[in-house]
Amino acid sequence: MKAFENKVVLITGGGTGIGKATAIVFLAEGAKVVISGRRQSVLQATTKELGTSAHFVVGDVSKSGEPKAIVDEAIAKCGQLDVLVNNAGAFSMGPLMETSDEEIERIYRTNVFATLALSREALPHLIKTKGSIINISSTVSSGVMAGSSVYASSKAAVDHITRNLAAEYGPSGVRVNAVAPGLTATDMSTGVRSDEQMLTMMVGQTPLGRLGEPSDIAKAVLLLAGDEAGWITGQIVQASGGLML
Ligand SMILES: NC(=O)c1ccc[n+]([C@@H]2O[C@H](COP(=O)([O-])OP(=O)(O)OC[C@H]3O[C@@H](n4cnc5c(N)ncnc54)[C@H](OP(=O)(O)O)[C@@H]3O)[C@@H](O)[C@H]2O)c1
Repeated sequence: MKAFENKVVLITGGGTGIGKATAIVFLAEGAKVVISGRRQSVLQATTKELGTSAHFVVGDVSKSGEPKAIVDEAIAKCGQLDVLVNNAGAFSMGPLMETSDEEIERIYRTNVFATLALSREALPHLIKTKGSIINISSTVSSGVMAGSSVYASSKAAVDHITRNLAAEYGPSGVRVNAVAPGLTATDMSTGVRSDEQMLTMMVGQTPLGRLGEPSDIAKAVLLLAGDEAGWITGQIVQASGGLML
């Protein structure tokens, strides 16, 4: 029997990048997977590619009420929830003096509000299955990089949400962990990766000497969600090839 047979995994932002790679590894272990995002066409195409154990829900995690609608629809489609992967995220980089209120709100609503609201809606279902939450953080949540104050602080909040929820819901049998990727080859990092100097610097500072692939991050998520990690909670696992150690 495969490790995630009869289990249901909800992955926000699962239509692309790290979320899609995460869906692939859970499906390979026998799970039913629900991916969510704002673009129906992307979710439709990805679900078709992933096969009949994959389902999708359209929703904007940054808007009040939508996290509940996403979780409710996932339950309606699959009947239970064993793992929530809070992966949908928004990135911004630049001097704070040039950052608008709207940009700060966009980053905080997508990375912080959504992580809290989706976790709140998923917890009653996860308590029933003794399931777990995996949040997707970033190496900059603990490292410092000029131009990252908004994004990095939002991911630091994700780390602290992870530890606090681990303490709060451990007694109910729910584990909460986070994976912190370094620079990973996805749509989100296109801007950073297309800056030759930046790319060379980031890879140069990565002890394992290459850029991360979405599958590198997906494997860390799978590991933390599995029974082998049953005594691990409240941890932020760096999946970065050693960047910003
Ligand atoms: N790539 C990196 O170098 C890197 C490094 C560290 C951490 N991360 C983190 O990894 C996670 C995944 O990002 P990625 O690199 O895989 O980039 P990506 O391919 O751009 O994925 C982001 C996903 O989030 C969804 N999303 C964004 N805003 C949303 C919203 N308001 N509501 C619902 N869905 C939303 C997007 O779908 P729609 O646009 O269709 O909504 C997209 O599928 C993020 O949390 C990111 O911060 C990435």
